[in-house]
Amino acid sequence: MKDSFERRIDYLRVSITDKCNLKCLYCIPDKGLRLFRQSEILTSDEITRFVRVAHKFGVKKVRITGGEPLMRSDIISLVSSIKDIGIKDLSITTNGILLTGMAKALKKEGLDRVNVSLDTLDAQKYKVMTRGGDIRHVWKALEEAERVGLSPIKVNVVPMRGINDEEIAEFAALTFDKDYHIRFIEFMPVGGNKFYKDACVRKEEIMKKVSSLGTLNRLEFKGGGPSRNYQLKGAKGVIGFISPVSDHFCDFCNRLRLTADGRIKPCLLSNIEFDIRTPMRRGASDEELEDVFRRAVAVKPAGHGQRFNAGLVSMSKIGG
Ligand code: 5AD
Repeated sequence: MKDSFERRIDYLRVSITDKCNLKCLYCIPDKGLRLFRQSEILTSDEITRFVRVAHKFGVKKVRITGGEPLMRSDIISLVSSIKDIGIKDLSITTNGILLTGMAKALKKEGLDRVNVSLDTLDAQKYKVMTRGGDIRHVWKALEEAERVGLSPIKVNVVPMRGINDEEIAEFAALTFDKDYHIRFIEFMPVGGNKFYKDACVRKEEIMKKVSSLGTLNRLEFKGGGPSRNYQLKGAKGVIGFISPVSDHFCDFCNRLRLTADGRIKPCLLSNIEFDIRTPMRRGASDEELEDVFRRAVAVKPAGHGQRFNAGLVSMSKIGG
């Protein structure tokens, strides 16, 4: 379905929990977050029902996010139900901590690929940045994901000044050995997180650091997503730049979001949302849900410009 700016909406990001087993500095505010009550969270059947509606309107690509989506005990059957709807490209964004034991089953049930969040290569720093995480679980998870064929494996890196910006070239160098997609995401000051604008390392600066490793060739624009992709000469992997701060990729935005507590968000950085949980639990027909979907697409804003602090809830509640 097209929105009022002629953008084809074919991508749905579904947050299935706001719980997370890490507490990353850039994501979770110091004072912590109030988590949804269990009864507020959509059930697996409710999620699947909504994805079916979205699929009817042309959504072909679904990403499951969190919090940490692998913390949901029904994640494997949920993947299976979503894939069965006919979703072509089904992926998960995860911190990888719980992935090793689940990768094979997830692949078998229809998961196509994973994005793993990893912001430092240093075990000690990882522990500090995630407030307690063990990086060894993430390395194992990446190996296992590769082994079972959850590819391409994408690694999300958010460079922050004075924290991990010295590791940019090291991350990029991983693409010489591995066919990973290393995606540098500009840090966004949202949701009461700890850092402000000067913590954001912009695309241009990241690119300069990456270019110190060799010639960086632009790859064709594919998939309609916000990532601008490049490859270092002689590398196997890809380097992507997702630059919400310096780029205006809203013109190409093809997505809607569903929050864990059942609200459709037409734009990450706007407060517009549509409750689907209440109507579903009141016994709404599919036609009514379709109507909500249509309305959400119709009011999708043209863009968000530089509006990053619009009374947002944390990324851990929206799923990035
Ligand atoms: N700025 C940019 N990216 C963020 N993410 C979470 N918080 C932020 C932020 N403030 C991204 C991380 C993670 C994904 C789930 O969301 O890259 O991999």
